[in-house]
Amino acid sequence: MQEIEKDRETLAGANLVDYGAERESFTWTAARALLDGLPAGGLNIAYEAVDRHVAHGRGDVVALRFLGDEGPGRELTYAELADETNRFANVLTGLGVAPGALMFGLSGRRPELYIAMLGALKARCGVSPLFSAFGPEPVRQRMERGHGQVLITTAAAYRQKVAPIRDELPDLHHVLLIGEGADAIDAPGVQPLAPLMESASGEFVIAPTDPEDTAFVHFTSGTTGMPKGAVHVHEAVVAHHVTGRLVLDLHPGDVYWCTADPGWVTGTSYGLVAPLTCGVTCIVDEAEFDAVRWYRILEEQRVTVWYTAPTALRMLMKAGPAAHAGRDLSGVRHVCSVGEPLNPEVVTWGDEELGLAIHDTWWQTETGAIMVANYAALPIRPGSMGRPVPGIDVRLVRHDDAGERVLEEDGSPVLVEEAGEEGELAIRAPWPSMMRAYLGAPERYAACFAGSEAASGKPLWYLSGDLARIDADGYVWFVGRGDDVIKSAGHLIGPFEVESVLMEHPAVAEAGVIGVPDPMVGEQVKAFVELKTGFEPSDGLRRELVALARRRLGSAVAPRQIDFLPHLPLTQSGKIMRRVLKARELGLPEGDLSTLGSTP
Ligand code: WT7
Repeated sequence: MQEIEKDRETLAGANLVDYGAERESFTWTAARALLDGLPAGGLNIAYEAVDRHVAHGRGDVVALRFLGDEGPGRELTYAELADETNRFANVLTGLGVAPGALMFGLSGRRPELYIAMLGALKARCGVSPLFSAFGPEPVRQRMERGHGQVLITTAAAYRQKVAPIRDELPDLHHVLLIGEGADAIDAPGVQPLAPLMESASGEFVIAPTDPEDTAFVHFTSGTTGMPKGAVHVHEAVVAHHVTGRLVLDLHPGDVYWCTADPGWVTGTSYGLVAPLTCGVTCIVDEAEFDAVRWYRILEEQRVTVWYTAPTALRMLMKAGPAAHAGRDLSGVRHVCSVGEPLNPEVVTWGDEELGLAIHDTWWQTETGAIMVANYAALPIRPGSMGRPVPGIDVRLVRHDDAGERVLEEDGSPVLVEEAGEEGELAIRAPWPSMMRAYLGAPERYAACFAGSEAASGKPLWYLSGDLARIDADGYVWFVGRGDDVIKSAGHLIGPFEVESVLMEHPAVAEAGVIGVPDPMVGEQVKAFVELKTGFEPSDGLRRELVALARRRLGSAVAPRQIDFLPHLPLTQSGKIMRRVLKARELGLPEGDLSTLGSTP
């Protein structure tokens, strides 16, 4: 078995050195005791992330350092962040926004967005950050389902994505604008944030917060239906903090850079919450990916811990050695990756060309925090996602030949016993950052679990939908997704959402959307379209459909390719057989669909 070994120096100071001993002694109660809890009672993420450090005399440490897209950035110490987030909490309270309301965010990675997210948590409001490359349709679906009362966004995003759908969002009472032209929009409830912040008080006492109160709602896509809002609570901070220590190996004094956008769960759980609870300095780059810029940031900012994604690493690999020539990356102590399969070649490249060991980690929007990981002081098996985090019990559920879960009569899942046998990755419920609901969709939530301690005395398992193997030493190997959801550049895309928009076009009778393998971004979105009688395929029509999709869905979700087919394969009940489309696209026999993972 090929392994990447670590040198003694790395071993010495790491937070997790003896995996077996750590698993053995770990308890969530002890993990909770690493945090303070609110002086007034309960547990609030923003207090643990910000105010706690000020209370312990660490207010002068830089919490967030924003690197401007073009101009200079902005730096906030923990003390300044406490003041600013208090102001935002007072702004919300002053507007009459009650605890329990949901605030959406829709902007690039700007300081005001980060301040607003933490400030809203202080006011005990929920926070749902949206990806800024979403078009009006994904924004509408999410805000409608979440009954968002507050939106923090820019004037440009408001005009382009929110104004056209404002009528469909009756619950949206307050739109707070940040950035350029924030005072230029005259619409009900829309106002610039800056003057409100200026006149707000920097004092705010967080009221006792029930650890089970909603903190974040992260939308994620499934195979069918519209996006699901995974509800996460303040208690999740216990898992964020522990994984920040044990997986990201964060120590006081670290400079940490998470390259994910807060519009996705990684960008909040690990771009904001986990590192701040560990008291480190977080780098936030406001610009988009650029290989030369990224290497410069690693060197100039003296980044010690870096959390990024396979697509970005593959793009760095493609940029070649010229992009990092002359750069000293020796300050980078620990590198982790998440979101999609990390090819072994990338791990080898990182080790050999950059001198950086890349540690794969696995988790999902629903799990809220890292569940499986490679650890700083332990050998890496390239291609493996690593081993379960202490406190987390990971097993595999057997699937039958038709790809269906095998369940006992009492509903509990049949677990794989043999090392190396494939099954569906399942996690024993509960754990602190486990989602508590899908907003307004209790039946979809219930379908994520099998077994019942109450009914059978057997454990309850969360079913991830991912297929994996576990080797004899407990390392987990990703096999593929068990469903039709598409992973492109680390982002989940629901085929149904794309199909629904294509069906809006008067020429379209049926649409089927799949992910086709792509060496750089993992999968590209491809659509197959059957036209109504009287319409003929043409390049003009194809361009029209692409334009429609981009306008409605945004660049992050729209298909890159559209093919016309005389007939789409349908089941007897009229559902698109996406797996048949995929098998045909890949030139596989249509019966042999079991191994269609998203591995590039
Ligand atoms: C899906 C979850 C992870 C938080 C951000 C994405 C895929 C995740 C890996 C990995 C192979 C991975 C899975 C998973 N995935 N990590 N290390 N290797 N695949 O969260 O958007 O909810 O996506 O991403 O398919 O189910 P998400």
